[in-house]
Amino acid sequence: MDLSTTYLGMRLSHPLIVGAGPLGDDPDTVRALEDAGAAMIVLRSLYEEEVTQEQMSEFVNVEAFSESFPEATSFAPDPLLSLGPDEYLEHLRLIKDAVDIPVMASLNGMTASGWLNYAKLLEEAGADGLELHIYHAASDMTASAADVESNAIDIVREVKRSLRIPVAVKLAPLLTAFAHFAKSLDDAGADALVLFTRFHRIDIDVDELEVVRTLPLSDSSELPLRLRGAAALAGRIKASIAVTGGVHTGIDVIKATMAGAHGTQLVSALLRHGPDHLRTVRRELESWMREHEWESLGEMRGNMSLERIADPAAYERANFRMALR
Ligand SMILES: Cc1cc2nc3c(=O)[nH]c(=O)nc-3n(C[C@H](O)[C@H](O)[C@H](O)COP(=O)(O)O)c2cc1C
Repeated sequence: MDLSTTYLGMRLSHPLIVGAGPLGDDPDTVRALEDAGAAMIVLRSLYEEEVTQEQMSEFVNVEAFSESFPEATSFAPDPLLSLGPDEYLEHLRLIKDAVDIPVMASLNGMTASGWLNYAKLLEEAGADGLELHIYHAASDMTASAADVESNAIDIVREVKRSLRIPVAVKLAPLLTAFAHFAKSLDDAGADALVLFTRFHRIDIDVDELEVVRTLPLSDSSELPLRLRGAAALAGRIKASIAVTGGVHTGIDVIKATMAGAHGTQLVSALLRHGPDHLRTVRRELESWMREHEWESLGEMRGNMSLERIADPAAYERANFRMALR
């Protein structure tokens, strides 16, 4: 059975990738993930805020993850929560030495110069690829959608121009004109689009008058939003497509592939069940394919994309009305 895929121009024996987050913090965990069959790993993001305000980053990260998140923090030794740029580069080299699978760095920048400088350093430190985690606060009233998009597109173009390694762009799900923006990033040279960032959950503690940020682990119910995104792009852009968010089972991988994904990233499922869960997902994937007489993932990739299904409106909002009847 052929599970192979090409993602970011790299031939992978299967599409199961460890997504950005704390799973890449500890070399032993990364080795265990490689032993369990991970095809690639993405390290947690280096945040430009950490680059410019290292002392703040510890506060932001610890507040975000510690209390709500017992499983994750067990994978995230405290010192790594506040990785500054030098430590990040050192950590990247350490992980590169520890495993043979491709190791992607991830960068969340704020300014064009910050993106460029650190992108180059990450390449020099040996990253096999770079995932740009593009995020802009939607509450900023001074920037229009067009401003925000053109800034992101310029960053991608510049980063691509100055790096040799492949560049993936991780997108937020709540975009007014998602397909147009995705196509512009593709035209700017992005080698992959990663769908989609998962936001912290915001709540208000009405007694303490505090905003509470949590990041609960996902489940498969988060996948459909990503399926729709992948299905809208499959066959219509040059860049590879990765799905991140709600991939927990072999069937989730099948669905993502049918929507058009070349790579499927897992984080929550591995934090919850440990690295061996990769074996389970792969077993489920293979046994489903055997049962349904599929010989390769390649032959099903994108067969349920917007371009290829008989009724593309099934993915569109027009159907919302029908679903309510
Ligand atoms: C504890 C934790 C830390 C994360 N850190 C990052 C990060 O540094 N950069 C990033 O792009 N995504 C980060 N993510 C998001 C994941 O990469 C992934 O996109 C998201 O969790 C959805 O996938 P999942 O449903 O498999 O968890 C993090 C997720 C978790 C749970």
